[in-house]
Amino acid sequence: MCGIVGYIGQKDAYDVVLKGLQRLEYRGYDSAGIALYDGNQLNICKTKGKVSDLNTKCIADNVRKGKIGIGHTRWATHGEPNDVNSHPHVSNSGRLAIIHNGIIENYDAIKKVLENRGYTFHSDTDTEVLVNLIEEVMMSDDHKLGKAVQIALNQAVGAYAIAVFDREKPNEIVVARLGSPLAIGVGDNEFFIASDASPFIEYTKSAIYLEDGEMGVIRLGREPRIRKIHNDKLIDPYIHELKISLDQIEKSGYEHFMLKEIYEQPEAIKDTFRGRMLADKGVIRMAGVDDHLEKFLNADRIIIAACGTSWHAGLVAEYIFEDISRIPVEVEYASEFRYRNPVIGPNDVMIAISQSGETADTMAAIKLAKENGAFVFGVCNVVGSSISRETDAGAYTHAGPEIGVASTKAFTTQITVLSLMALKLGKAKGTISNSDFHLYLNEMESIPDKIEKALQENDHILNVAEFMKNSKNSLYLGRGYNFPVALEGALKLKEISYIHAEGYPAAEMKHGPIALIDEEMPVVVIATRKGHYEKVVSNIQEIKSRKGKIIALVTEGDDTVKNIADHVIEVPETFEAFTPLLTTIPLQLLSYHIAVMLGKNVDQPRNLAKSVTVE
Ligand code: AGP
Ligand code: GLU
Repeated sequence: MCGIVGYIGQKDAYDVVLKGLQRLEYRGYDSAGIALYDGNQLNICKTKGKVSDLNTKCIADNVRKGKIGIGHTRWATHGEPNDVNSHPHVSNSGRLAIIHNGIIENYDAIKKVLENRGYTFHSDTDTEVLVNLIEEVMMSDDHKLGKAVQIALNQAVGAYAIAVFDREKPNEIVVARLGSPLAIGVGDNEFFIASDASPFIEYTKSAIYLEDGEMGVIRLGREPRIRKIHNDKLIDPYIHELKISLDQIEKSGYEHFMLKEIYEQPEAIKDTFRGRMLADKGVIRMAGVDDHLEKFLNADRIIIAACGTSWHAGLVAEYIFEDISRIPVEVEYASEFRYRNPVIGPNDVMIAISQSGETADTMAAIKLAKENGAFVFGVCNVVGSSISRETDAGAYTHAGPEIGVASTKAFTTQITVLSLMALKLGKAKGTISNSDFHLYLNEMESIPDKIEKALQENDHILNVAEFMKNSKNSLYLGRGYNFPVALEGALKLKEISYIHAEGYPAAEMKHGPIALIDEEMPVVVIATRKGHYEKVVSNIQEIKSRKGKIIALVTEGDDTVKNIADHVIEVPETFEAFTPLLTTIPLQLLSYHIAVMLGKNVDQPRNLAKSVTVE
């Protein structure tokens, strides 16, 4: 997983590439590098660390000149993050430079062949092997760069988005993709290359998205030449008109992307149901579902496959699909599903949930389901992402770009899409009455305002964060619809503050975790009025008797829990099925504030990447 950027045109490539890399740092940030052709020679500057470290080094080394360049921000798969393993990698002759996102799985076999032919390797990466394979093809048969890349990629197994530059042909960049995203920005006598459109959005709104298995030769003065890597077929490039704005991508005055994204949730959810839910008419329109309604209605069951936060959204969906549409649901970790010979067939529907649409495990689960004849529906945020293309149909969440590595608005918008689906199917099946259906739609319409209200607890949550921030461990408890929220709250705390947190079904506490409770242990309990309220209050009493510290999420106006808990955080009242959309909000804010107080890197927590494109 990494970000790649390239530029060819009249501007200083350094400025465009560096700024672009900064925007793509959410994709990986353990090292960075740039290659620039200054009119005479190819200059490379790379370093372990962030893009800001790269900038410092390039200034010191005076590598900033050139109208053509490529750059990379890395998330290592092969070889530790260090200066040498950073991209770009250069071929043995020094002629070719490459940046690569992905993994070349058969790199070891290729490396041995190349070593026998006299090639030497300086890094531990698979990428350096690929650039030398391209060079070998080019040198041995006197091929042009484009052809050499094509032949080499036909020998490579794995996933890639690459950009390759030849200093002997300094007017073109060759790009290719299989399994990792790559967009080409088409400007006025200039081209941009990037993992997504954010690096070039301020320069052009026209973009070509390479499809899997396509490559392109990008040269000034003519349209990019796109062809299939495997059969050489020329493709007429389709130019997308981008609707996304720079403001959507940048922080808009918030200290961190995560905070911005937490506050964007009311709008993001409106965007999710906009045009789909017509509450006054009592209609939910979702083309992906409408076109395949029979598939859903005749399905023996729905299998949900996802990872991390998206898996938590899948758990919420299990409750709502079974509750409202009475369709049996199984929720699977995509990484487990793909390797355990699952029973799945043509009567099953798989729903794959993924913010990025690039998660390798989820993609593999989809492929397996398809091979077995299942119909696969995608719930993705990133438009045009690999999963959105691979699935038979789908619904985008329309949350806008999520840059913070810790997922926030993606989660609540995923739940929104899945709730709309459950309601729509429930109506079509007759498992929900017309009047209830209307009530749900009206309630869903009020959710953005209720989230606004939940966000107003922010100042109070700061105090709770202060109270919790020095803990080493914590428990998060919830029941029913709020059990997945407990899991999600715990994941948020773990990933950005590095405090150990465990999510548990509240009633399971007495079967084990209760042994952990003492005066050192904060327990966050979701105790909203709808959903087993009395039972959860009893659990709170059990914690209290063992001197645990209690932070309770309650429905506005609740006095019972206030008298027992150390802190209460209120959320507005809503239908039980929609409570996760509200109870998630304070838990996001809580982990955010704790992480900030502890001085952690909120948007780019250690060891993580925004989307995990490797197994
Ligand atoms: C969320 O905060 C995590 N960083 C992570 O669990 C994430 O949800 C997971 O990797 C799945 O990503 P996806 O939704 O892009 O497929
Ligand atoms: N496999 C390459 C490496 O380890 C690229 C990884 C990435 O996508 O950043 O350097």
